[in-house]
Amino acid sequence: MLNMNLNMNTILCNNSASFPCTKRLKDKVAIVTGGASGFGESTVRLFAKHGAKVVIADIQDELGESICQELLSKYGNEHVTYVHCDVTNESDVKNVVNTAVSKYGKLDIMFNNAGIPGDPYSAVVSSSIENFKQVFDVNVFGSFLGAKHAAGAMIPMKRGVILFTSSVASEIGCGTSHAYTASKHSLVGLMKNLCVELGGYGIRVNCISPYGVATPMLVKALGAEKAVVEQLVCASAVLKEVAPTVEDVAEAAVYLSSDEGKYISGVNLVVDGGYSTTNQSLPTVVKKSMVKET
Ligand SMILES: NC(=O)c1ccc[n+]([C@@H]2O[C@H](COP(=O)([O-])OP(=O)(O)OC[C@H]3O[C@@H](n4cnc5c(N)ncnc54)[C@H](O)[C@@H]3O)[C@@H](O)[C@H]2O)c1
Repeated sequence: MLNMNLNMNTILCNNSASFPCTKRLKDKVAIVTGGASGFGESTVRLFAKHGAKVVIADIQDELGESICQELLSKYGNEHVTYVHCDVTNESDVKNVVNTAVSKYGKLDIMFNNAGIPGDPYSAVVSSSIENFKQVFDVNVFGSFLGAKHAAGAMIPMKRGVILFTSSVASEIGCGTSHAYTASKHSLVGLMKNLCVELGGYGIRVNCISPYGVATPMLVKALGAEKAVVEQLVCASAVLKEVAPTVEDVAEAAVYLSSDEGKYISGVNLVVDGGYSTTNQSLPTVVKKSMVKET
């Protein structure tokens, strides 16, 4: 009977977004930038479900406030807070960290997730310099500011977790713009450097690098219906019979933030179903040429 209960618990905890589970982030305090939409929103929901106090930091105030109100009615007063925060603005970032610390007494988890795709791919000679700077401003500088101010709050505690949302585009050149690909590679470099420095204070630093998921960002970037984007993603995926979702990233964030990941630092956790391990160019060309010949 005991064994059966243990097995059942393992099964229930395997996918904590869909099933009841133990509270893996109980008493932790987290900030999620870009928390009003996509991966950020799903992480906010899963963090709250796991018992964390969560601060949603975003520039989409109406959306952020409405998620906050919904979660407050579900988990009770004081559990979730929305703070307007443009991650490219240092005083906004400082304010969101100060809010978390003054309201909840500490900061355990800083998830630097906010990001923008910028312009679609264009040849380097016709790439916009303004766009390049803007993409770096949000994706890299904004994440740096988040890490900087979070570290200020975490160093005295001698513990904490800093996460970044990078991308499969940090592993391979995959058709995204030069600015986006370079920005996501930069985040991995930043993560590794911070991991070395902040490891001295017991602070862990990691990246999560998702494959395509039909969030508002990707749907807008591809200019197609959500269902069409989902089909495109699944058709190009290496791992079949399963569709990637925002919850896959939230689950990775819970793992890296929880005590279960207590010795994981300096890792770029690629959540891409194996996409970045392969290059299908040769087999595709061979297949095409064989079709032509027959
Ligand atoms: N969707 C994908 O396929 C995919 C794949 C790999 C990586 N990513 C990365 O995931 C992260 C989240 O993107 P998403 O797909 O959930 O998109 P999304 O557009 O649904 O969410 C991004 C959120 O970031 C917020 N944001 C943008 N600029 C901001 C700023 N200056 N300050 C504060 N908040 C800001 C937006 O308001 C939005 O709520 C991004 O870093 C993105 O590059 C996305």
